Amino acid sequence: MTAKDVRHRVEELRKQINHHNYRYYVLDAPVIPDAEYDRLLRELQTLEQQHPELITPDSPTQRVGAEPLKKFGAVKHEVPMLSLANAFSEQEVLDFDRRVRERLETEEVEYSAEPKLDGLAVSLLYRDGVFAQGATRGDGVTGEDVTQNLRTIGAIPLRLYGAGYPALLEVRGEVYLSKAAFDELNAAARARDEKIFANPRNAAAGSLRQLDPKITARRPLAFFCYGVGAVERGRLPGEHGALLAQLRDWGLPVAHEQKVVRGVQGCLNYYRDMAVRRSRLEYDIDGVVYKVNRLDQQELLGFVSRAPRWAVAHKFPAQEEITEVLGIDVQVGRTGALTPVARLKPMFVGGVTVSNATLHNQDEIDRLDIRVGDSVIVRRAGDVIPKIVSVVRERRPYGAKPFHMPKHCPVCGADVVPVELEVMTRCSNELRCPAQSKGQILHFVSRRAMDIEGLGDKLVEQLVECKLVETPADLYTLTEEQLSGLERMGEKSAANVIAALEKSKTTALARFLYALGIREVGEATALALAQHFGDLDALMQADEVTLQQVPDVGPVVAAHIAAFFHQRHNREVIKRLRAAGITWPAVKIARRLPLAGKTFVLTGTLDTLMRDEAKEKLQALGAKVSGSVSSKTNYLVAGADPGSKFDQARELGVEILDETAMLKMLRT
Ligand code: IVH
Repeated sequence: MTAKDVRHRVEELRKQINHHNYRYYVLDAPVIPDAEYDRLLRELQTLEQQHPELITPDSPTQRVGAEPLKKFGAVKHEVPMLSLANAFSEQEVLDFDRRVRERLETEEVEYSAEPKLDGLAVSLLYRDGVFAQGATRGDGVTGEDVTQNLRTIGAIPLRLYGAGYPALLEVRGEVYLSKAAFDELNAAARARDEKIFANPRNAAAGSLRQLDPKITARRPLAFFCYGVGAVERGRLPGEHGALLAQLRDWGLPVAHEQKVVRGVQGCLNYYRDMAVRRSRLEYDIDGVVYKVNRLDQQELLGFVSRAPRWAVAHKFPAQEEITEVLGIDVQVGRTGALTPVARLKPMFVGGVTVSNATLHNQDEIDRLDIRVGDSVIVRRAGDVIPKIVSVVRERRPYGAKPFHMPKHCPVCGADVVPVELEVMTRCSNELRCPAQSKGQILHFVSRRAMDIEGLGDKLVEQLVECKLVETPADLYTLTEEQLSGLERMGEKSAANVIAALEKSKTTALARFLYALGIREVGEATALALAQHFGDLDALMQADEVTLQQVPDVGPVVAAHIAAFFHQRHNREVIKRLRAAGITWPAVKIARRLPLAGKTFVLTGTLDTLMRDEAKEKLQALGAKVSGSVSSKTNYLVAGADPGSKFDQARELGVEILDETAMLKMLRT
């Protein structure tokens, strides 16, 4: 290549790379795979290494490379970087709009509505389209020179795209971390046992304010622009929305959610829409911003103190609040599982009042190192249940002690046992723990189970406490007199409960099975069991192998079901329930397959079929094909050179078939 060819190729590569950056960061519509992009960049790097005289500061290769700084220089903002006034309610937004309209003496104002990104504000100076300097907001008048760090951010163009930009253009926007990038960053920090960041904003700020740009370069920072500062020698559109569109055309990313709306109602609709979409956005927002769209109107409105009169930030309710742990309660569920729950000093967060939060188990308590008396940060995002994110260690009261899960059930005092393979613990007193009884009965009467109206939390608690009811079967022995004798129970409600119990006696097998509260048996599994076995007795007698023939019943669920029906106590309860008159219409069994319930084992080489083919044929007729011989095996199919399975089968007296016999069985 001649020197001229090299220069042309370098220019061509830069143009292509800038174009792909634009497609990727601004339009969010890349046209080439990453690998292809990397090849272009590497080719450019190689050419620049061979011809260093061709390197320019705006070359896409020049993002990292600057030496670490001793400290950041100061940058004076010629046009001050202001902040925004906040509105926390619709009323405050209505007031804002009224003031704007009064000053402008107009009926209706057009606004640019935008997400309020939760990152940190920066200013980017472009001279003749080349990124020259970047600064943080600082106190609004003087910020820090973070040019080298901003250069490492892929979304910030080192050279503007297209043409027609002013000779001097100062762009303003927000540097932020996407939620995914934040999670990744924290996961990596956790793996290295380093301090994790509290939220994406802190992480973005910490990343940008690194003296060594190489560290910043490793942080996946992003950028959105939302306005301009100083402009010299050049004209810009007269409306904010059009201005952002213009900036986008020059290669500066603008949030896709930005749009122009009419009047204050347009603003409020936008707010509601964003509140719903918020959790699905790739980045965190803490509200939305409304800006008067016409720039001449903005100018008329001007500023008060340090915020413009033409804009307002409409904030979402805070998703994180600080509060105190008043105590840690341990709840016992219907299966006896012990769950620690933090009782909190009530506070308003994410739009609701929160007064408790689950702590899940001892591991979670240890991970957070949470103690009674601690100040904690509670987060409630969207409709997600509130959770404690962290403890404010600085505020820990003197003498606060670590919390340990009890060794005895807080309700009945029985020993607590660990649950296999789980961090959970369980009350061992399955039959007599009032907390378990109560949970079980509440489940039994619930809408999707036996659907018995009128038996609420308080009533069930009373019934269990007075020992009137211990198991679901006891419900059907209750009398109107017993019920009306209870606190807060009138004769009318007592009669209603009795009627509801009576009505519940005619039910469906699936409902009844679900109501029994067998571990791991939800509604879907209950239905599958009912359809497979058709009646309760067959199900109660089924062993684990047979149970696993039911769709979606694996070894764990099968073991729970078998264990449940094996327990004398449970069989007794079922017997009493049936004696009380609980019935269901016969269930039509989903077509029974001829080999259903039969277990086959294959060994040796078959003459005509591959092992997998034979297996498929057997399974298609409902058989279960197992890998090893046991007392549950019905048939061993043996081909040539059978292995040890053959001997095992003979020992256990399992019927042995050759391939011909098996094929014959499949045919009949
Ligand atoms: S406009 C004079 N637009 O919010 C107008 N700011 O509370 C100044 N912010 O410092 C800012 N998203 O860091 C504007 N779409 C948006 C914004 C936004 C986030 C931040 C920015 C600013 C702060 C003011």
